[in-house]
Amino acid sequence: MKKNYLMTPGPTPVPPEVLLTQAAPIIHHRTPDFSAAFAQAIEGLKYVFQTSGDALLFASSGTGVMEAAIANCFCAGDTVIVTRNGKFGDRQKQIAEVYGLEVIDLAYEWTEVVSPSDIASALEANPHARGVVVTQSETSSGVLNDVKAIGEIVREYPECVLIVDSITGIGAVDCKTDEWGLDVVMTGSQKGLMLPPGLAACTVSEKAWRAYERSDLPKYYFDWMKYKKNIEKDTTPFTPAVSLVLGLNASLTMIREEGLENTIARHARLAEATRRGCEALGLELFAPPEGRGSAVTPVWVPDGVDGKAIVKTMKDTYGVTIAGGQDDYTGRIFRVGHLGYFGDFDIITTLAALEMTLAGLGYEFERGSGIKAAEAVFMGE
Ligand SMILES: Cc1ncc(COP(=O)(O)O)c(C=O)c1O
Repeated sequence: MKKNYLMTPGPTPVPPEVLLTQAAPIIHHRTPDFSAAFAQAIEGLKYVFQTSGDALLFASSGTGVMEAAIANCFCAGDTVIVTRNGKFGDRQKQIAEVYGLEVIDLAYEWTEVVSPSDIASALEANPHARGVVVTQSETSSGVLNDVKAIGEIVREYPECVLIVDSITGIGAVDCKTDEWGLDVVMTGSQKGLMLPPGLAACTVSEKAWRAYERSDLPKYYFDWMKYKKNIEKDTTPFTPAVSLVLGLNASLTMIREEGLENTIARHARLAEATRRGCEALGLELFAPPEGRGSAVTPVWVPDGVDGKAIVKTMKDTYGVTIAGGQDDYTGRIFRVGHLGYFGDFDIITTLAALEMTLAGLGYEFERGSGIKAAEAVFMGE
């Protein structure tokens, strides 16, 4: 028997209490029982999104809410500023183009952080832009973009909404939706919410509702107003993912019990231990020091080592699933996820498997140094 460890930035491990909740017999969604659970889920989502505004919940993967944000906020031909420093920013640009928007493309290297002053300049040059789109936590690169600073800029433009992909941000890094002036913030269930894939959620600010009123892009399943009107009656416009909603309450209860601030602090500690552990092995981190998130740690494959073999050996020999690089970085980086249901010993285990994998692939380093560095973080040294 081999014990398996899922160390990817989505899907992420699901706690036993959440799995057990989902194993309960299915209940009908047009019942007081489901309505009570659904109302609780929406309140819990507002807690993790740090908003007192609207939170909407969909049976969908994360990309569904990304598409919904575009379809609900804009008219064909509107100008939007799309920032991209990774795969998911690229996706937002593609979605905006599919819907016929004029995209002002703020493209960066995957190793760079989005510059708020570039957004300020783009808005000065295009004061009629109707939206700015940013990925807070870029899963492909591990970069954390400063949505707080970007929020301060965009809030000066009353007709321009700030759309934030926090699909691997929520629950891992701070994201103060209301305080920072973020108009639409999105997340997905298979990330910090510690659930299987299948749910996605977003917030909608007053400003975003004004954009919705004006928007003429086609939408049906993802029409935000259908969800809002139903949420007001503690129900959903379409058949919800009942078991996932019940599971969501279990996971949100765990986050509330830990306290969101502590959840975020735990992620910061796990990320720091992973980074220090990898650096102690002589490996180079991919994301720049000024913008490293806590959801995932991407690491350069060292010279002379086959990057795909690292990921394969970790999984096949040691049972530890990590993620490889995406697009241009396939085989050049590997990514260790620590988002959601993770504790200190998941990191120790992963670093141990990484050391054994690298040693087997002929990479030279001092065995045990990665684990030792991570232990030092966990012991507060
Ligand atoms: C930052 C980010 N945005 C968007 C997505 C897309 O979500 P999904 O694959 O659930 O459609 C992901 C998923 O990995 C992500 O990490």
